[in-house]
Amino acid sequence: MSDGLNLCTSSKMQPIRDLVGKVASTNTTVLLRGESGVGKEIVGRAIHKASPRANKQFLKVNCAALPGELLESELFGHEKGAFTGAYRQKPGKFEAADGGTLLLDEIGEMPLRLQAKLLHVLQDGEFSRVGGERLIGTDVRLIAATNRDLENAMRQHQFREDLYYRLNVIEIRIPPLRERREEIPVLVEHFRRKFNVQYGRTVEIPAETVRVFMEYHWPGNIRELENAVKRVVVLGSARPVHQEIITSLQRGPRTSVPVAAAAATISPDQVISLKEIARQAAREAERVAIKEVLDRVHWNRAKAARLLQISYKALLYKIVQCGLVTPDPDKAAAKESVAS
Ligand SMILES: Nc1ncnc2c1ncn2[C@@H]1O[C@H](COP(=O)(O)OP(=O)(O)OP(=O)(O)O)[C@@H](O)[C@H]1O
Ligand SMILES: [Mg+2]
Repeated sequence: MSDGLNLCTSSKMQPIRDLVGKVASTNTTVLLRGESGVGKEIVGRAIHKASPRANKQFLKVNCAALPGELLESELFGHEKGAFTGAYRQKPGKFEAADGGTLLLDEIGEMPLRLQAKLLHVLQDGEFSRVGGERLIGTDVRLIAATNRDLENAMRQHQFREDLYYRLNVIEIRIPPLRERREEIPVLVEHFRRKFNVQYGRTVEIPAETVRVFMEYHWPGNIRELENAVKRVVVLGSARPVHQEIITSLQRGPRTSVPVAAAAATISPDQVISLKEIARQAAREAERVAIKEVLDRVHWNRAKAARLLQISYKALLYKIVQCGLVTPDPDKAAAKESVAS
C-alpha cells in the first residue's frame, strides 16, 4: 500500500484500500467519486504509486479550471499557429504522461465536444494535437474524478453515456470524513507534525480539541481538517479554531431544540406521541442540567459526575449525546489532568 492511504484505517476505508491494491496492477480506467476534499486525488496517486507505472509521470488536469479551447490544448497539445497566441508547438498532458497515469479531475465539467475526443483516445489510444493532422499514439492510464452526479448530468445530456460507461469500469466511492470519524485523531496528529516541521513550531493540540473535532461534521472533509490544524499550528493555539467549531456545532443539527420551541413547531396535522414529547423533554432537561453543572465546575468532568451522581464514563457519554462542547479546551484539559 502506498503512503497516501496509510492513515485511512477505518472500516469504511478498508474496502477502498483493498480495491486500490487490486486495480493498481491493471490498466483499467478508474472513476473516483466523493465530496470535495475527501481524498480523491490521494487515492488516484496511491493507485499510480502501486502500479507498474509508478516510475513514470503522474499528471493531473482539472477540467473545471480551463475554458474548452484551452483545456483541449492542455490535454492534447497544439501545433504552431493553431490559434492566436500559439507561437510554437506544445505537447499536451496525454503526451507528457505517456507510460504513466493521467488524473482528470472534475470530469463532469468537461465540454461535450471534448468528451467525444476523450472517448476516441480511450478507444483507439491515439489523438491529434489542436490544429494538427498527425495521429499520435499514447499509452496513458486514465483516472477520472468527480463530485458531480454524473448520472443526472447524463440524463440532462451534459455528459455522454458512452464515455460514462467507458470511464466507469471500476468505480471507487470515497466516503465523507463524517462517516469515518475514527480517522480524525490520526489525521490530526499527522497534520500537526507536518505543519510543526513546515513552520518550525512545537504546537500541541489539546485532547479536548480533538474531541470537538470528532463531533464536527466537516463539510469540507479532510481538506477542511487539514486547514484547521494548519491554523492551530500557525496561531500557536487551538483556542480560536476550537471556538469556531463550537459555534458551528451549536448552530448545527446536533444542538437540541429547546422543548418549548420544539412543541411550538408541531403543526396541527402532525402526529406526535405524548411518549415522544416526554422523551424529548427529559433529554432537554438533562442537557440543561449537565451544562449548568459543567459550567459551575469549569468543566471539571470528574467533579461534575460526582455532583450529578453518575459515573465519569456515563457523563462523558451524555456530554457527547447532548452535543455539549467545552468552551475552553486548554482549561478543560488542565482540569481533567488534575482531576485524574
Ligand atoms: N488519507 C490522507 N492522508 C493525508 N492527507 C490526506 C488524505 N486524504 C486527503 N488528504 C489531504 O486532504 C486534502 C484534500 O485531498 P484531495 O485533494 O485528495 O481531495 P479531493 O477529493 O481530490 O478534493 P477536490 O474534490 O476538492 O478536488 C489534500 O491536501 C490532501 O493532502
Ligand atoms: Mg481533487
